[in-house]
This record gives sequence, structure tokens and C-alpha cells, in this order.
Amino acid sequence: MNDVLTFLNSHASVRAFENRDISPDDEQTILATAERSPTSSNLHAYSIISIRDQEKKQQLAEWSGNQAHVAACPLFLVFCADLYRLSLLTAERGYDFCGEYTEAFIVATVDAALAAGRALQAAQALDMGGVMVGGIRNNPSKVSDLLKLPEMVYPVMGMSLGYPVAAPKVKPRLPLPGLAFAETYQIDQIAPAVAEYDRIIDDVGHLRHREVEKDRYPDYSGPYSWSEHSARRMASNSPNTLRPHMLEYLRERGLLRR
Ligand SMILES: Cc1cc2nc3c(=O)[nH]c(=O)nc-3n(C[C@H](O)[C@H](O)[C@H](O)COP(=O)(O)O)c2cc1C
Repeated sequence: MNDVLTFLNSHASVRAFENRDISPDDEQTILATAERSPTSSNLHAYSIISIRDQEKKQQLAEWSGNQAHVAACPLFLVFCADLYRLSLLTAERGYDFCGEYTEAFIVATVDAALAAGRALQAAQALDMGGVMVGGIRNNPSKVSDLLKLPEMVYPVMGMSLGYPVAAPKVKPRLPLPGLAFAETYQIDQIAPAVAEYDRIIDDVGHLRHREVEKDRYPDYSGPYSWSEHSARRMASNSPNTLRPHMLEYLRERGLLRR
């Protein structure tokens, strides 16, 4: 593997940070590198908000499900899907703005996610670490008010960044045949890959003591595997997992109406 591939394959999320600031120069490098990401039709349908203010981080930590690293990190970034800027220049020309289409929502969400991925890599290249924070969608209206987000903008994810207290452990992934298929979708490859991954995750003990909604499954006596964990997550309508409030929230913002 060359150096870039070794770097990319060493990714692991970091949730504990040294008490050390990120310099404004490094912050600019992270943001500028994120902006080099591909963007659909060069529309730049996203924005990034940098947050250093302790009170704001505290508030966001609480609203994200009491995630301590959000308050403890020196720099918290919020990646927003953003059709507002495009709505302004469309209106200036007197054209009808069609940002309420599902496709526009997908474009903006993908743009924001691509920029977020690149930002995390840039931070890692500067010996920092971080973790994406979907938890900010637990309370998207409160986050939108706090960050003064205009209509047609929503927070896709946050990102806690800082210098890691310790080198993070690389988490095993689903064996590749479970998600990488040749020529057509290969349903038969799924079950063996999932079974193998259940064994791998059990070995590393990653899900021990992390049972989702334990009280809802009192009769379950099988192993708490990755597939059990993931199935419970996908069967949960709690505001902190599948966030049933999102559709209404997005429509209120002017998104996903058509
Ligand atoms: C969009 C997105 C949102 C995430 N949100 C959170 C979060 O709110 N809290 C958290 O601790 N980890 C969050 N994560 C991190 C994942 O849990 C993590 O990437 C996954 O478990 C794989 O671990 P790794 O990144 O260390 O390889 C998020 C990851 C993604 C891609």
C-alpha cells in the first residue's frame, strides 16, 4: 500500500481529546481541504459552521444526546446541506426556485457529507482526530435556531475535532463481499458476510454493554451480535435513533416538499 492508502485505511473515530487548541491556520486548512471535495454540478450546496464558543458546544453536546466530546473538543464543525445561497441567486434573476425537490435535497446532503469526510481526513492528516456527530439531528430545530440557519438549510452532521488523547483502535468493517458486488446486486453474498462480521465484532467485544432498548427485548436470549444491534437500531423510532421528527422538520425548512 502506498502512503495515502495506508493513511486512508487507518481511519478510526476519536472521542477523547487533549486539552489543546486547534490553531486558526490549521482550522483554515481543514475547511479549505473540505472545500476541495467534489460538489454536485459545482453548486456548492453546503455550508460549514465552526464553533469554538464553549456555551454553544455545551448546548450542542446536550442536544446531541449528552455526547461529552462535543463540549470537550476545541473545535466543533457543523456541516449543513444548504440550498439557501442558491435560492438567493435564483430569486435575484427572477427565476422560480425548485429547491423543494427531493433531488435538490439529495444533492445538498451528499455535498455536505462529502465535505465532512474530507474535513475529517484533513484533520487526521494534521495529527488530529475526530468523530462525525449525527446526534445533532436529535434536536434539529433547536440547533437551527442556535446557529441561525436560514430556510433551505439543515444540519446534516456535526464533527468533534481535536488532538487524540490516545491512538484510536481501528474498527473492523463488514467483510467486503457483503457490500461490494460485481456487475449486479449479489443478495447471496450478504448472509455469509454478516455471519462472519458478527463473529469478528464479538471477538473484539465492541458491542458489549451497548444493548439498544434492552427493555423492549426482554425475551431475547441470543448473542448480542452486530446484526442484533443493527436490527434493533433499524427497528427503533426513538428520537435519538431513526429520528421520526426529521421529515416534518425538513419540510418546515422548505426542503423535501416535492
Ligand atoms: C454520519 C455519521 C454520524 C455519526 N454520528 C455519531 C454520533 O453522533 N456519535 C458518535 O459517537 N459517533 C458517530 N458516528 C461515528 C460512527 O459511530 C463510526 O464512524 C462507526 O462506528 C465506525 O467507527 P470508526 O469511525 O471508528 O471506524 C457517526 C458517523 C457517521 C458517518
